[in-house]
Amino acid sequence: MLLQLKISFIIILYFFGALFMVLFPPRNYEQSGAKMRTIRSAESEFSFTQYADHTFVLATAERFAKDNPEVVHTVGLAPSTAENRSIIAIELRSDKNSRKPGILIIGALNGMVWGAPNAVLELADKLLYDSNYQTPFFNDYDWYLIPMGNPDGIHFTQSVRSLAPLDQTQWSRKVSARINSRPTEWHKNVDKISLQDTCFGTNVNRNFAYHWQDDVRKTPEHCSQSYPGDKPFSSAEAQAIRAYVDRLGDVIHLTIHLHASFVPKKEFILYPWRYSLRQPSNYRSLQEIGEYAARQARLPDGRLYEVHQGSNNIRVAGTLSDYILGVVGIELVFIVKPYHELFPNYTDINIREGYVRKAMSTILSVVRGWRSSTRQNTLSFFGNDVEF
Ligand SMILES: *[C@@H]1O[C@H](CO)[C@@H](O)[C@H](O)[C@H]1NC(C)=O
Ligand SMILES: *[C@@H]1O[C@H](CO)[C@@H](O)[C@H](O)[C@H]1NC(C)=O
Repeated sequence: MLLQLKISFIIILYFFGALFMVLFPPRNYEQSGAKMRTIRSAESEFSFTQYADHTFVLATAERFAKDNPEVVHTVGLAPSTAENRSIIAIELRSDKNSRKPGILIIGALNGMVWGAPNAVLELADKLLYDSNYQTPFFNDYDWYLIPMGNPDGIHFTQSVRSLAPLDQTQWSRKVSARINSRPTEWHKNVDKISLQDTCFGTNVNRNFAYHWQDDVRKTPEHCSQSYPGDKPFSSAEAQAIRAYVDRLGDVIHLTIHLHASFVPKKEFILYPWRYSLRQPSNYRSLQEIGEYAARQARLPDGRLYEVHQGSNNIRVAGTLSDYILGVVGIELVFIVKPYHELFPNYTDINIREGYVRKAMSTILSVVRGWRSSTRQNTLSFFGNDVEF
């Protein structure tokens, strides 16, 4: 008798449980996750025929949005650049109805990092279509991707690539030399402060308003590759990125500036501050996440990325990363610098793919390092961390 009562009680309990599930289904069951995404066969790979230019970034962003209207949103940032290009942001959100921790990636703020847009676009493609990337990386985060932060600079350097190199200081000073030569390096955009000025271009990554010009006693002249603008946010690129980041606000938890090192065998994962030797209050966790990422993203020849505060090598002020931490208040900020040649052989696929592979794996390793530091989605079994 007692047993029967117990059984009836349990049946009733299950019935109500089932009823509850039907009436109030878990929200994620319907609207999120793999159902909304197309899983593409592992063979088909996104391939580039060349370094991405602004037109290609725009076309690819539009194709992503058209094929995945539920999860991809393309934004053209305002204001447009001096040559009237709009910086493109690609937003990937796997669940329309909830906000997940946001990751912001900004590439090619520097006119020499040709491979960065390719890397960011390929990362977007993997997050959207490759099941190996979806489960650990897309389902748990929203991604905000700016493949090309300095489209004018990239356009300029790519368009002069076949001319003969001339030392960049001489090139900048001598207008007549510009017809048939190119500067040996160009890290700036192409804006003109005044029409009389023979020099042009602002280094966007010196133009942000946090301790602007705090690293130098004398303003670099306009011809210099580190010219920081005549005031903070004088460049359209810095303005557009500021407006975008301000609009996102506290949605962003982690920011990665995908940059490059131009010195062979010197590759870095850096974090703020870059303007000062003073350490940020969370430098311990920044260092730990960076070291974790360096171990995960060991370089092809077995070396590790050097991980430290940006100012350890050289102090530079007005950078994007210092602005993100110091003004926007996003605590986790990294600058990822895989090696990239200056004016690499444009048609050599291996050089391009080498940078793209390193950049992608390092970005994802930083995310893994962050996950591991928060113990998010990891279980410890007898001292081993297992991700699920
Ligand atoms: C800039 O580009 C936009 C959109 O591509 C176009 O509508 C506008 O007319 C352009 N402005 C100038 C000054 O060329
Ligand atoms: C650039 O790379 C291509 C393809 O690998 C090669 O055929 C060509 O000789 C290279 N050019 C130079 C100048 O090294």
